[in-house]
Amino acid sequence: MMTIGLDDVIAAETVLSDVDGLQGRLVMRGRSLDDLAGHAGYEAVMALLFDGFFERAPASWQAALGAARREVFEHLSFADPALVAQEPIDAMRALTARIADGDGPATALRLVAAPAVFTAGLVRLRKGLRPIPPDASLGHAADILRMAGLPAEPLQARALDTYLVTVADHGLNASTFASRVVASTRAGLVSSVLAAISALKGPLHGGAPGPVLDMLDAIERADHARAWLEAALDRGDRLMGFGHRVYRVRDPRADALKSALGPLLQDGRADRERAALAQAIEAAALDTLRRRKPGRTLETNVEFYTALLLDALGFQRDTFTCVFAMGRVAGWIAHAREQASTGRLIRPQSRYVGPPVGEAQER
Ligand code: ACO
Repeated sequence: MMTIGLDDVIAAETVLSDVDGLQGRLVMRGRSLDDLAGHAGYEAVMALLFDGFFERAPASWQAALGAARREVFEHLSFADPALVAQEPIDAMRALTARIADGDGPATALRLVAAPAVFTAGLVRLRKGLRPIPPDASLGHAADILRMAGLPAEPLQARALDTYLVTVADHGLNASTFASRVVASTRAGLVSSVLAAISALKGPLHGGAPGPVLDMLDAIERADHARAWLEAALDRGDRLMGFGHRVYRVRDPRADALKSALGPLLQDGRADRERAALAQAIEAAALDTLRRRKPGRTLETNVEFYTALLLDALGFQRDTFTCVFAMGRVAGWIAHAREQASTGRLIRPQSRYVGPPVGEAQER
């Protein structure tokens, strides 16, 4: 039997994460998202995901990641003007492709460092500014903000850290599956991560949060929301930040990120008016989707609050997908290692529905 989109097909066994779409629960290696987001740092979650997948783990993953940031920073010197002019996700991917392929912890750490260092450096280069070298002594989140030239006080660093943890892994999503398919051929971690970045950038996956902000800008006022949303659905558009293949209830990551946004709002670092507008639009969208798509449960997904949080931290909207990659890269690597060490070559079949031999028309 064929399932378009592979819904409900079990294509791997994993110890890494479990997405319960009916209960709205995410578990990473036996720890619930509630237990991790806002409580564990990104490096600790990366170490949790990597545990057992590398023979020679570093004594301190935090120190090793800091050193890896410094190492990959050198690659920014390859960022010629044509590359800098590309979309940040494409330029970041091109620079990541310059890292030598391999399967060991050193390659893994360079790959975790890569989206962070390259995106921050590319943002600076696009503004005609010099990239800021990494500070290996800082935590990953704090250093990302500092390298990007954004406010990097503990309040902001904690919020970004919570974001990176929240998105670190999420079952067999499209980018993680892409990483595992490549790993199943034993191609190496860099190849897996490049495939994953390519899958992530699409608007149905990690490319959604930029368009969420575009939607808030276009709606402008809460009393415009319903008419705007109805018109979008009339055109056949999808409302960005809503719906999910697996969740039939609210995405738990949306609430983890909403909580992370709270302190920034209280402290006056985030725009309260924009947050109020967003909440009004979220409510109107959920109501509109319930009426217009009665057969389908469409709830808020992670990307809606990603957009608000990353905007409040000062990231430009064309870099949001890159920031997603900064967090998800740990999951991609762990899944690639798991696939290479325990899985088989992934090679499904297709059903031929083309013309029979002899009936094909000459072109
Ligand atoms: N807005 C409007 N309608 C929607 C939306 C939406 N956001 N999501 C699904 N639908 C509708 C579809 O149009 C379809 O309706 P139809 O049967 O009348 O044609 C029905 O719901 C089912 O759609 P599917 O394509 O089967 O849903 P699928 O499970 O493939 O889609 C997806 C999941 C891609 C996330 C979808 O909900 C979507 O496009 N959302 C908007 C983009 C987005 O927010 N992406 C980020 C997802 S989270 C992440 O990847 C990290």
